Amino acid sequence: MGSQWSKDKAYVQAKKSGYRSRAALKLKEILKKNPVIRPDDNILDLGAAPGSWLQVLREMTDGILVGVDLNPINPIPGVTTIIGDFSDPVIIARIRELMPEVNGVVCDASPKLSGQRSYDQARAIDLNQQALRVTQTLLKRGGNLILKSFQGEDFSWFYNQVKMDFYSVKTYKAQSTRKGSTEMYIIAKNFIGNEPDPEENQADGSA
Ligand SMILES: C[S@@+](CC[C@H](N)C(=O)[O-])C[C@H]1O[C@@H](n2cnc3c(N)ncnc32)[C@H](O)[C@@H]1O
Repeated sequence: MGSQWSKDKAYVQAKKSGYRSRAALKLKEILKKNPVIRPDDNILDLGAAPGSWLQVLREMTDGILVGVDLNPINPIPGVTTIIGDFSDPVIIARIRELMPEVNGVVCDASPKLSGQRSYDQARAIDLNQQALRVTQTLLKRGGNLILKSFQGEDFSWFYNQVKMDFYSVKTYKAQSTRKGSTEMYIIAKNFIGNEPDPEENQADGSA
């Protein structure tokens, strides 16, 4: 029994529900515990293939949904997908065209694993940093972020970087995570952003 059984069970359950992968159940669990998606939020999904998070998100918001991945994503009604590297400025420009504002970013991206632990950890944190940069560029003030990271070297450092950008940040270990995995989700709420707060301007009479 053990993890192999749970893995198969989760996979079968996801497929039965029409989702493309077991990752769908993980996002559902995360959102049940951390309800950060509002019913009309525009959400950007970084590292979205094969698309099961997009399927779940489509059920949760009527807003614009855009998914980006290095690999193609089979069409999902009401969702726009882009093939490419999310850190590429051309891709960022395309996202801007598609989304007048981004209210939430989700990122389940992971690099291809080499099996060499410290190398893989460094690449994962590097990818996290790239996702954070995209978030800093596109997310609207007050928006939320769900991002997959991995515990290990530089995790705390990266976590503190996220804390500088959001009013509320915490970690969440999904119960459906495979046994022994260092995977850890960062749930960041209320993006501080760079734009001036219009209400602050009003308060001092300058707006
Ligand atoms: C675990 S899968 C995502 C699963 C997805 N959340 C779902 O539910 O179907 C991780 C994805 O991250 C993508 N990825 C990794 N680095 C990327 C990058 N720089 N730009 C775009 N996608 C990337 C990979 O191609 C892979 O498809």
